[in-house]
Amino acid sequence: MHITVVGGTGLIGSRVVNRLRDHGAEVRIASLRTGVDAYSGRGLADSFAGSQMVVDATNMNRPSYDYEQAVDFFETCTQNILAAEQQAGVQHHVGLSVIGGERIDSNYFRGKALQERLVRSSATPHTLLRTTVLYEFLPRLVDHAATTHLVRLPPVRVQPVAAEDVVAEVTRLALGAPLNGSFEIAGPEVHFLDELARQVLAASGDRRMVLPDTTAYYLGARLEPDADCLLPSWRPTEQSFKDWLYTRP
Ligand SMILES: NC(=O)c1ccc[n+]([C@@H]2O[C@H](COP(=O)([O-])OP(=O)(O)OC[C@H]3O[C@@H](n4cnc5c(N)ncnc54)[C@H](OP(=O)(O)O)[C@@H]3O)[C@@H](O)[C@H]2O)c1
Repeated sequence: MHITVVGGTGLIGSRVVNRLRDHGAEVRIASLRTGVDAYSGRGLADSFAGSQMVVDATNMNRPSYDYEQAVDFFETCTQNILAAEQQAGVQHHVGLSVIGGERIDSNYFRGKALQERLVRSSATPHTLLRTTVLYEFLPRLVDHAATTHLVRLPPVRVQPVAAEDVVAEVTRLALGAPLNGSFEIAGPEVHFLDELARQVLAASGDRRMVLPDTTAYYLGARLEPDADCLLPSWRPTEQSFKDWLYTRP
């Protein structure tokens, strides 16, 4: 199978490329570094030619990108990618998204929600995977929120997940038939974001202090301290099978 991974040099995309190759797929990488610009559309047609499927793992990773531009970035890149897929006859689009897109008021999350709507309304069959924040992304998040002595982050609950688990799921979805739906993936534990930041810094001997700050931003969003908008919409229920078995009348 021929697959193009847009954003195939990124945190998730590069790992997806390796995993798909391990499964015997012929994978092409499309990113700024390989001369493909999803924002201007440059190089998309060539990189999709002959591909049966496309994984879109594009993200705003350049220092020149500003979260204020996220709606325009995701709208324009996604429209260009979907149009190029139509022309190339791509049969399956797999997109990566965020948990909380529809519930969080910020340009980044609005951009991701709009991206999902564009994918759903495209004629190309699709599968969308929404994920919580990755363990591997946390150091970047901490850096972003850090000043010389202090890291200010909102004390919100998150359920982070390992890149390896997300990549395994993207690969499984990419190698399967399009499901024309959205799915969610999250790690096994709920933590407070500021507490995780403290652990990230301590693990690398960084002595900067982490301050829980309800006015601090998370990817450009202001979040209430008790907000659960970054958690998956499903929750495991409390009653185990054994509880049910031995307590029923
Ligand atoms: N990381 C997380 O914790 C997380 C959590 C939830 C959802 N997601 C979603 O997962 C996806 C991937 O995120 P990530 O963290 O893996 O991203 P990332 O590490 O920031 O990588 C971004 C990728 O996008 C490429 N790119 C940027 N601008 C481009 C453009 N104009 N044209 C073509 N390629 C472009 C980059 O290419 P170059 O390397 O060539 O610049 C790079 O390959 C995103 O949709 C994100 O919303 C991520």
